[in-house]
Amino acid sequence: MNNRDVSSALVIGASGGIGSSITAHLQSKAKYGHVWALDRRSIPRIDLLDESSIIAAANRIAEENSKITLFIIATGFLHNIEHKPEKRLEDVTETSLMHAFAVNAAGPAMVLKHFLPLAPKKGRSVFACLSARVGSIEDNTLGGWHSYRASKAALNQLVRTMAIELRRTRPDAILASIHPGTTATNLSAPFSKQGLDVRSPEVAAVQIVNVLENLTPQDSGSFFDHMGKPIPW
Ligand SMILES: NC(=O)c1ccc[n+]([C@@H]2O[C@H](COP(=O)([O-])OP(=O)(O)OC[C@H]3O[C@@H](n4cnc5c(N)ncnc54)[C@H](OP(=O)(O)O)[C@@H]3O)[C@@H](O)[C@H]2O)c1
Repeated sequence: MNNRDVSSALVIGASGGIGSSITAHLQSKAKYGHVWALDRRSIPRIDLLDESSIIAAANRIAEENSKITLFIIATGFLHNIEHKPEKRLEDVTETSLMHAFAVNAAGPAMVLKHFLPLAPKKGRSVFACLSARVGSIEDNTLGGWHSYRASKAALNQLVRTMAIELRRTRPDAILASIHPGTTATNLSAPFSKQGLDVRSPEVAAVQIVNVLENLTPQDSGSFFDHMGKPIPW
């Protein structure tokens, strides 16, 4: 049997809290003949800050001639030892902004640049980026988290722009941003307050995949939450 006869899925950021649960969920479904799980330690590896690793990984996947019908970028950055989400203007630094934009916007854009050409030319396929509701400009009433919010807004604009271009060559393909909902992972751990609706990564994975599997080409270039409800830009 040719690899093009079997649908494959591919997760980037498979080491993350949500990415690993999405990978396990997809592997449990009979629908996907193969599930690629890529991260900074996989073979091939992907480091969002190193475009050559993205190119090499895309070339490696292309060699397999896989028919990728579901592609999820589950990477993201909110905090590390050096950078905390800003509470006020004086916390904003050039390095915090640059790092958030590199990981949350430029990195996924480079992944889409090199992986969207692997989308099947005919037939439905879904490419999704995990974004965040706080990246919505219209929904922003609280302020704060300047770098994270702005980098996710930039990611959303890149998704929208690339979706318009994708439609010209692959009218059945879908490219969308999705907010996974507040999920118990390392990323959210310092901020998960009592009373907040924090779900397990396993529950989030099922919800996200369910939304993505039900999108239609008309939904391409849009931003959804984990229940499939559109989020304003
Ligand atoms: N958890 C939530 O409540 C929540 C809410 C809204 C939105 N989100 C979004 O959901 C996505 C997944 O978040 P999560 O909660 O699963 O976070 P997580 O557990 O911290 O996972 C983050 C993932 O991003 C990867 N990553 C970071 N920098 C990278 C780089 N330079 N190159 C390659 N991979 C890199 C990490 O790889 P390593 O393992 O190598 O570090 C890891 O796989 C993010 O986009 C986040 O913004 C999450």
